[in-house]
Amino acid sequence: MPDTHRILSLIDEFHDTLTWMKAKGCRGFDGRLPCDAGAPGAADEKAEGLSCTPSPDSLSSASPSVHHEPPDSLDSIQNDIENCQRCKLAKTRTNIVFGEGAPSARLMFIGEAPGFDEDKQGKPFVGRAGQLLTKIIQAMGLTREQVFIGNVIKCRPPGNRNPEPDEILACAPFLNRQITVIQPEFICALGTFAAQTLLHTTIPISKLRGRFHDCNGIQLMPTFHPSYLLRSPEKKRDVWEDIKLLMNAMEL
Ligand code: URA
Repeated sequence: MPDTHRILSLIDEFHDTLTWMKAKGCRGFDGRLPCDAGAPGAADEKAEGLSCTPSPDSLSSASPSVHHEPPDSLDSIQNDIENCQRCKLAKTRTNIVFGEGAPSARLMFIGEAPGFDEDKQGKPFVGRAGQLLTKIIQAMGLTREQVFIGNVIKCRPPGNRNPEPDEILACAPFLNRQITVIQPEFICALGTFAAQTLLHTTIPISKLRGRFHDCNGIQLMPTFHPSYLLRSPEKKRDVWEDIKLLMNAMEL
């Protein structure tokens, strides 16, 4: 029966995810992304061990008698997301947009969700906004291949609407794992959605940008989304200020 088959496969996926989280030292799960901008309650939650992000200690001091999964990798994440049916976006997407770039990039750019062009090509930031992002990366003296470019949500929301909470919840573990595997020193969060989701805050992007935020040891710089720059080119100056701070910190 197809329904029974689907339920069994979901149970398998859930079991795999829990096994992976346990191997990484995870003590609980609240379905949230790993960073914390000092949002109200964030410190309390950490103290109660609700964060899903492993601490470095938990990765190195596990008992040798415990069975360990092989270390996670971008390939295994990509494998796990293949043909993903975890949320309703599966029905309308053309391609899953996993993200691309250097597997050990020092810098990750994280946007919101694929748009029309990205959905068609299965690659992140390849439309008009993507071309602008490429120019920003080149202005830093880097190439797209030297950084990692991804999104919070891996499938296009129909009509480019905002991602919904159940979609964020379903997709968050993949971005979590990408960040854990890549271990970037820096994240540039592109736009309101990425910045607010990664930092667990509702503070507007205009107030978040212009300074680094701690993201579990990763320096996160929020800035305006390239799509917004296409509509409001006068904001390019602000983005350039943010990018210069990044370049300075990266010693580029
Ligand atoms: N906007 C995004 O946030 N991500 C993309 O990949 C493309 C446009």
